[in-house]
Amino acid sequence: MATLLSVNVGMPKNVAWQGRTVYTGIWKHPVDGPRMVRRLNIDGDGQGDRNGHGGEQRAVLVYQMNSYGHWQKQFGHDTFEFGQFGENFTVDGLGDDDVCIGDRYRIGEAEFEVTQPRVTCFRVGMRLGEPELPALLVSHHRPGFYLRVITEGHVRAGDAIVRTRVGRHALSVADTDALLYLPGRDIERLRAAVDIPALSPGWQQSFRELLDNAETGTHANPPPVGVEPGWAGFRRLRVVDLVTESAAVTSVYLTAENGAALAKPKAGQYLTLRAAGAGDPPPIRNYSLSSNPDADTYRISVKHEAHGIVSGYVHTKLRPGSIVDVAAPRGEFVLTDDTNPVLLISAGIGATPVLAMLHQLAAAKSTRDVWWIHAARDANRHAFAAEAHGLLQSLRHAHERIFYTAADADAPRASNVASGRPTLAGLGLPADASAYICGPTPFMNDMRDALAEIGIAPDRLHTELFGALPAINPGVVDPAHATPHQPPGRPGSGPQITFTRSGLTVRWSDQHHSLLELADTCDVPTQWSCRTGVCHTCLTPVLAGDITYRPDPLELPAPDTALICCARPVTDLVLDL
Ligand code: FES
Repeated sequence: MATLLSVNVGMPKNVAWQGRTVYTGIWKHPVDGPRMVRRLNIDGDGQGDRNGHGGEQRAVLVYQMNSYGHWQKQFGHDTFEFGQFGENFTVDGLGDDDVCIGDRYRIGEAEFEVTQPRVTCFRVGMRLGEPELPALLVSHHRPGFYLRVITEGHVRAGDAIVRTRVGRHALSVADTDALLYLPGRDIERLRAAVDIPALSPGWQQSFRELLDNAETGTHANPPPVGVEPGWAGFRRLRVVDLVTESAAVTSVYLTAENGAALAKPKAGQYLTLRAAGAGDPPPIRNYSLSSNPDADTYRISVKHEAHGIVSGYVHTKLRPGSIVDVAAPRGEFVLTDDTNPVLLISAGIGATPVLAMLHQLAAAKSTRDVWWIHAARDANRHAFAAEAHGLLQSLRHAHERIFYTAADADAPRASNVASGRPTLAGLGLPADASAYICGPTPFMNDMRDALAEIGIAPDRLHTELFGALPAINPGVVDPAHATPHQPPGRPGSGPQITFTRSGLTVRWSDQHHSLLELADTCDVPTQWSCRTGVCHTCLTPVLAGDITYRPDPLELPAPDTALICCARPVTDLVLDL
């Protein structure tokens, strides 16, 4: 019979880690005597990061003595203590191969239900000083598992563990874990997994998505939405025309150097430009396409920024006939095919991607209710005014609202132009619309809030973010706020690594274990969880160059993407990070 060997608790605390501070409850210690187990926790216990751990579905973490023995041999340790793997219950028996999702167990006065395997997370590796442990827990099929509390009550070390019910479909913890993280998924097992009521909602959703992909024949591990490059790396395009759009904005028309057809973009996507003549190393920037996606040429429209290296180069150096290096259209901010009303909302140069969407709607003679809402400083700096107006005139159900925000802007002459900051209240916007918003971050935040108040669902609010994506650094309480910079110390001599969203190029040095570690050192905002190639949170599009993995991830990502937590460069790299 299985036995509870130890009850372990610990409250979260700040721990120093790689120059940062992590708030974590991974340190647990055995307690004597009975302990009350409640719906959300054991008395005296807590979790640092409730998004990944804790809550009703993950109230108690279980790990097995048998696995302690396995890791002691693996790492050559003999000093493990109960609670070392962050578990609340150290147990004899209850192997991950034997326990099934939905199994119920009575321990002492309490009853529990198995909800999911352990969440793979870097903190268990940090606790044991073995950074690769999160990946090893999965690949060795020894994750441990979480319990939901069915009946609250006291438990104590030495209590017998009695199974009171077997989970539907008898899918073991080890098999469930492998089904999520390892390649070669069995579709019947996926069907079984989504039919286990006891499985936690988060895992249910992941399996539902995998099942949908499997049933529709989609790649089990698809590239991020919008990453369907028309060519690999950078390609030489010729400037065929330059057109002044306003006091500060110039459009650049591009075609293939050899006259070949260009890949068709989706309305709203952007190009990545490498400006070889603007500096060494050549700076790289993203610019939205502002043209009709069906056009023979690409058009990007560039605002001359006060200290913009690339925008200055575009405005002063480019001429018809100039050649520029360009990566294929990409991006997730794209107009979706639908019939509901569509709101195209922009400020300043943010008009470019939504203008491409407006072109597409006009070309398709769309009967959708289309709202064009744009903020410019004044009429002089109102780019694309005539072009957008003409497109809207060609649509059956179009509305145009323009706001001039400069205090000294001339008084508006048209009824659809107002002075002051854009306000959405009172415009009569339809609550069932899809909204596409592009502009400075505060503007996008304001518009999102205003649209949410109107009742537009969050999944219909789309924003374009050209800068760094928001960081996902679980548990880190002092995230970097510095502008991305060269790594401290002697510069490396390896391949050049360009982080396009941060506008930074640095040289690789083998003192870094991974591209993620290099990015962290440079304060480039990053997204990660396991840091060992399991969870795919760090998936990053690779615009150019080759990588190698050390260690190999458990499942390779789609082509032209990298799991940067375990990737190193082979050649110069351009990362969409
Ligand atoms: S952070 Fe989990 S795979 Fe990279």
